Amino acid sequence: MASILCDCSDESMQKSETRSHVATASANSPVSPRALQAHNLTKRFGKHKVLDGLELSINSGEFVAIMGPSGSGKTTLLRILSGLDKPSSGTVNAPHRTERAFVFQDYNLLESLTAMRNATLTARFSGRRCSKAQVKTIFNSLGLRGFESYLPNQLSGGQQQRVAVARALLANAPFIFADEPTGALDDQTADVVLKHLKTATQSGSTVVMVTHSQRAAAYADRVIDLAKEPLATPGSKNS
Ligand SMILES: Nc1ncnc2c1ncn2[C@@H]1O[C@H](COP(=O)(O)OP(=O)(O)OP(=O)(O)O)[C@@H](O)[C@H]1O
Ligand SMILES: [Mg+2]
Repeated sequence: MASILCDCSDESMQKSETRSHVATASANSPVSPRALQAHNLTKRFGKHKVLDGLELSINSGEFVAIMGPSGSGKTTLLRILSGLDKPSSGTVNAPHRTERAFVFQDYNLLESLTAMRNATLTARFSGRRCSKAQVKTIFNSLGLRGFESYLPNQLSGGQQQRVAVARALLANAPFIFADEPTGALDDQTADVVLKHLKTATQSGSTVVMVTHSQRAAAYADRVIDLAKEPLATPGSKNS
């Protein structure tokens, strides 16, 4: 499937128009400002209960940071809120796959695709197009200029993470889910990423970001701390 999605030439990208996520969001958003609503969310892996009756409401255009110790269920929650995974019980109005972009904790770049083709993948998958100018702007701002034709295994970890971030930004999606998107970055580069995410919310996107960094969380409108949620361990009485 990936190769079919990646046959977009530079020329066609040049001709294409960028579809604004502002327009997408306003066209699809209900009158209610609530973008994401989760009720009584529970997630079990076998006997291990990771999320237990979680209630969550995120407004449209909000920038929310999810924090908590390693293993507390941040990635699990993000995947459920985005619709990548289903809860064991409870409800969530996860967006349609064409309305979301996801920055994976382990980047999830396709090894056979160049940085540029990886970066434009979600946009294509969602039926959106990104202009060559937009790709150039994002690559330049993320310090990826000159690396467009590199394969993931020719990039450093931080560069791969920046390509993963570029992929989410270029999707122009109404929802961006970012799992520790600055985890491999220096402070200066992290600030560039966080400013991009902030700008996306100012343009109407809703951003849910997992982070261990207080510095990153400071960019968010609100922090949800999973440390305050019951944390079950396998074999415990909560499991
Ligand atoms: N597919 C799976 N199968 C079994 N257990 C899983 C699965 N995915 C996650 N878990 C368990 O769920 C718990 C929470 O994992 P999760 O990845 O959500 O944590 P996290 O808060 O994102 O941690 P980190 O900060 O280390 O990334 C862990 O104990 C993990 O073992
Ligand atoms: Mg995680």
